[in-house]
Amino acid sequence: MSIQLGMPQSRDSVGPGLPPARPAGTPSGLLDQYGRRATDMRLSLTDKCNLRCTYCMPAEGLEWLAKQAVMTADEIVRIVRVGVELLGVRELRLTGGEPLVRADLVDIIAALRSNHPELPISMTTNGVGLDKKAAALKAAGLTRINVSLDSLHEETFAKLTRRPFLDRVLAGVDAAWAAGLGPVKLNAVLMRGINDAESPALLAWALERGYELRFIEQMPLDADHGWTRRNMITAAEIRSLLSVDYVLSPDPRARDGAPAERFEVRRRVAGAAGPLGSDAEQLGAEGPVLGTVGIIASVTEPFCADCRRTRITAEGKIMSCLFSREEFDLLGLLREGASDEALAERWQDAMWVKPKAHGMDHTGLGAADFVQPDRSMSAIGG
Ligand code: GTP
Ligand code: 5AD
Ligand code: SF4
Repeated sequence: MSIQLGMPQSRDSVGPGLPPARPAGTPSGLLDQYGRRATDMRLSLTDKCNLRCTYCMPAEGLEWLAKQAVMTADEIVRIVRVGVELLGVRELRLTGGEPLVRADLVDIIAALRSNHPELPISMTTNGVGLDKKAAALKAAGLTRINVSLDSLHEETFAKLTRRPFLDRVLAGVDAAWAAGLGPVKLNAVLMRGINDAESPALLAWALERGYELRFIEQMPLDADHGWTRRNMITAAEIRSLLSVDYVLSPDPRARDGAPAERFEVRRRVAGAAGPLGSDAEQLGAEGPVLGTVGIIASVTEPFCADCRRTRITAEGKIMSCLFSREEFDLLGLLREGASDEALAERWQDAMWVKPKAHGMDHTGLGAADFVQPDRSMSAIGG
């Protein structure tokens, strides 16, 4: 049995009664009415996934899109070309569902690479099957990879993802590194009472191997609608959990609109702890910088004001934000025979009305005016 999610409103154009249309003569590129410019394109290759992470999918799965509803390799290549050549896209992230389940993944990357020799092309994957594909992905032109890894304990991993695939994921992470797909970044969503206590051990493991771990606040993007603010492990809690063993200091490199706030990590002298962020706290540090850790505080410390992302779902809909409640159909227009310029125009219209912020960042137990999107993360792309 699988469940269906309601879908957001789809629009073909900006019309009366709807948010402000993009004024004529708006500068080129994917600009929005608040002055942000999207240059980071996130493209979902499929809505299918072979895990069932509790913070994303229901146990029984979702009803997959029909094959003909999903962008073909040629359509993907064309849409990316429009983004790069006409709209100022400067980096591409391939997402899912799980991109590795697409049989033509390597061919898609090779075609993208041949069109765009300099474009950074990365991929977010759950890592299942990556061990077998990493070398081919690198050879096809993939630049680097982000792998979801919430736990190093078989039981906890299986509880969170509802699949017993930890060994396969770990083999995938190592294979990606060996294939030259570094820096390898790891995404861990912390869930209260499940894997939060494991956070220092996860960090130790990543630091030893030279992987860049990022802890992510759980967002209300689960198909089960089970998210509660009370249960979410906040960035402040994450910093505090890590501070028992480590001292974190802000990474001097610029954040550049990235979701993750990066910290340099040093070991803490046992028992030496001042208040977080204080000079005394820094004095507790011992030895060299071991590496970095990222904290993605999407809910409690939102980064919407610096957002540079534009998203295309697997069925070719433009989402200006993870939390957009309306989408613009790009694939339909493409299939009607539209020119590159017409596609670019629709994309610009869609981005112009990008929400200012997602609205989750209220204090208390949940924002009264925040409405969870109908799509789960797997149907948007992370
Ligand atoms: P790198 O470029 O590899 O450093 O990745 P990234 O920092 O862009 O992050 P990535 O795409 O791997 O996303 C990590 C997590 O950040 C996602 O799983 C989401 O939880 C969150 N995230 C990414 N983009 C957005 C966004 O536009 N809005 C919000 N609220 N969260 C986001
Ligand atoms: N909140 C935060 N991050 C999520 N991801 C999936 N669902 C959520 C959620 N509800 C992350 C996963 C994966 C990426 C694609 O999105 O950790 O790494
Ligand atoms: Fe887990 Fe990603 Fe699959 Fe969602 S899409 S179930 S987060 S692996």
